[in-house]
Amino acid sequence: MLERYSQDSLTFKKVEEILNSNLPDNLKSAASKVIEDRPLSREEIVYLLGLKDSVERKYLFDLASCVRHDNVGDTIFIKGIIEFSNYCKRDCLYCGIRSSNKVPRYRMKEDEIVKTAIEAANYGVDTIILQSGEDPFYTTEIIERIIKKIRETTHRAVSLSIGEREPEEFEIFKKAGASKYLLKQETVNKKIFEMVHGDDYERRIFLIKTLVSLKYITGGGDIIGLPGQTLEDIADDIIFMREAGIKMAGIGPFIPARGTPLENYPTGSAEITLNAYACTRLMIPLIQLPTTTALGTIDKNLQYKAFDAGCNVIMVNFTPDTYRSNYRIYDNKRKVEFYETVRDLSKMNRRLTALVKARSSS
Ligand code: 5AD
Repeated sequence: MLERYSQDSLTFKKVEEILNSNLPDNLKSAASKVIEDRPLSREEIVYLLGLKDSVERKYLFDLASCVRHDNVGDTIFIKGIIEFSNYCKRDCLYCGIRSSNKVPRYRMKEDEIVKTAIEAANYGVDTIILQSGEDPFYTTEIIERIIKKIRETTHRAVSLSIGEREPEEFEIFKKAGASKYLLKQETVNKKIFEMVHGDDYERRIFLIKTLVSLKYITGGGDIIGLPGQTLEDIADDIIFMREAGIKMAGIGPFIPARGTPLENYPTGSAEITLNAYACTRLMIPLIQLPTTTALGTIDKNLQYKAFDAGCNVIMVNFTPDTYRSNYRIYDNKRKVEFYETVRDLSKMNRRLTALVKARSSS
């Protein structure tokens, strides 16, 4: 069997360093598992998620960075997101665009969505993410047409983030050319899921598994800091994603949203979010792991810090200005702009995809 890490890999060296140090046994046992290519135990993940000591966290982050380097390289992928509708039939307690919240609603026209996708592609993004509330206005046929047009005109990967749909629709969208689908589990704690989401947990998990079985590059992920959520729950989220065959994960802190039942709840912990990125990288070495806008909303630098903790993707927003401020899933949502992101990442000597580099300098 081919070993994942050779003796001269960065991961091997980092693990040796950890094993030869005075670090706590839990960190050492986790490091041994990484090098043996075995999954961390729930207890080990809980321990790592709860790390507070800055030296220990640095070891965790460095190990995650080595695992990223050895498995997927250090290139940062910039993806373009278009939030094409903020209508939503759901009423999730945490979300600012829940159906019962009073926000000005908008829907982008088909042509406008395609035009925006072409613009994003011209900036060099390798994936166009189409995101919306759960909006039945966009029928199967409309979504199918949009996917086809974007594929024909841009040849970029199309990723859908439009919530729950029927398995038959997933198949149609796949045939039309969508290769990725984000459907976060939000939390695998069934009680919390059903409390905040007001909907059937089993169906959610069924749909995620359906996406995996249809060979979508499937995105899961959770919200860190939901009411009542424990570190054990977050560890279970990571274990679930590994076992379900999840290949992308959107993990972000809870940010209170005005007008929602959770508006006065505390913001989720940025520290735990970063620890969760590192654990997810250790558990699913090949994962596409974006640093989320929610984390950047707490502090822009934290969003960049996540690249030191195993992340390798950032989503840049291409939603036209007229709509953007109304896609208010939480308050003060950070505007992640293309040029600013490229400039910041270049200053930090992060490697970007060739396409982005070429387009940003022309
Ligand atoms: N805080 C953090 N994340 C949120 N989302 C929605 N509302 C919030 C909030 N208040 C996330 C959900 C959803 C994604 C598009 O945004 O996880 O899947």
